[in-house]
Amino acid sequence: MSHPLITLPHPPTCSWPQFDSQDEAAVLSILRHGNVSTHEVIRELEHDYAIFSGRRHALAHNNGTSALMAAFHALDLQPGDEILVPAATFWASALPMLWFGLIPIFCESEMHRLGPCPDDMRQRITPRTKAMVIVHLWGLPARMTELRALADEFDLKIIEDASHTHGASWNDIPCGRLGDISVFSLQGDKLAPAGEGGIFLTDDANYWERAVCLGDITRIIELESPARRFAATSFGIKTRIAPMSAALGKIQLQKLPKHNARRNANHIKLSQQLEKLGFETFLPPAHIQRVYFEFLIRHRDPNYDVASFIERLRAVGGQVAAPRYPLLHQQPFFTEGHWKSICRAPNRELPTTELPRTEAENARLIRLPNFPSDDNGILDQYADAFAQLA
Ligand SMILES: Cc1ncc(COP(=O)(O)O)c(C=O)c1O
Repeated sequence: MSHPLITLPHPPTCSWPQFDSQDEAAVLSILRHGNVSTHEVIRELEHDYAIFSGRRHALAHNNGTSALMAAFHALDLQPGDEILVPAATFWASALPMLWFGLIPIFCESEMHRLGPCPDDMRQRITPRTKAMVIVHLWGLPARMTELRALADEFDLKIIEDASHTHGASWNDIPCGRLGDISVFSLQGDKLAPAGEGGIFLTDDANYWERAVCLGDITRIIELESPARRFAATSFGIKTRIAPMSAALGKIQLQKLPKHNARRNANHIKLSQQLEKLGFETFLPPAHIQRVYFEFLIRHRDPNYDVASFIERLRAVGGQVAAPRYPLLHQQPFFTEGHWKSICRAPNRELPTTELPRTEAENARLIRLPNFPSDDNGILDQYADAFAQLA
């Protein structure tokens, strides 16, 4: 190792998630109550998320993947219909659609917001295109003005994957309210973690009812519509959240503003220093309130040797790395054709085999640790190390 420059311990400044006696009491109260499957806290969590996001309907799920699955089911599309989705995202933004015979059409990402590129999406629209998945990657709201205009022009539904953006907003509209259906993940790394959990949000009662029928048997019995006849079967899966997770998720949502404020302050402080050294740190324009699920940066020089910079930083104690999601269109599940066995589309080929811009830009990104807690001085050590090595 070179002479270390980052010597302070990463915990506690970088430790996440953060739980205290309030979280413990919330979980314990469910355990002591005894109803560990359908406790009222599930409805309380849904109510809180509906208010938080300004939506009419919420349905809690056992994880974000299930909530996305419910979203694809809710749209009631036909096998072979196409859905635009960025390749630079976690697999759950795309793969659940395959179970309904829907075809993911992978798109380029937009360079400065990292979400789907509206111009590239436009090129890929066909008569079979019915919806788009918008992901606000790493906590940065996507190019909503252009994406919404495109969706309106071609009558496409929007599924908003807001898994990284609890507390972010675009033009004062909260993430979670920017899609026909919006989804949060409450998985343990997320900004409001519940252990495992997911929230399905919509203003459309039919979409909500289809999500209920897919996976929440308790709620089907309560429906006052003809769909109640499915109470003895559901549509074949079970995706209800566990009350202990719901209790945790509820408390973490209450703490979100405080948690986000501290995380944002740390990341913005370091970003301002790194900007002076030639890095793009994705500080948002005025109409966007961003949050930081993860802290990604990129050198402004496209020819900068990122791999060797990461190596040099690691050699002095920096915990930096490449972004953690591999690009979906390059994964064996797609390149070797396995996706077709789930989608039951044996004769279909995916049109997207190369995304040159996303591939090039993704390779330039550098992932820093998150700094969610009070700074113990480590931010200055990172700034110094960058200044010496960049
Ligand atoms: C962008 C994105 N979408 C969806 C998910 C799926 O959420 P979960 O892990 O709760 O199933 C995740 C995270 O894990 C994610 O990062």
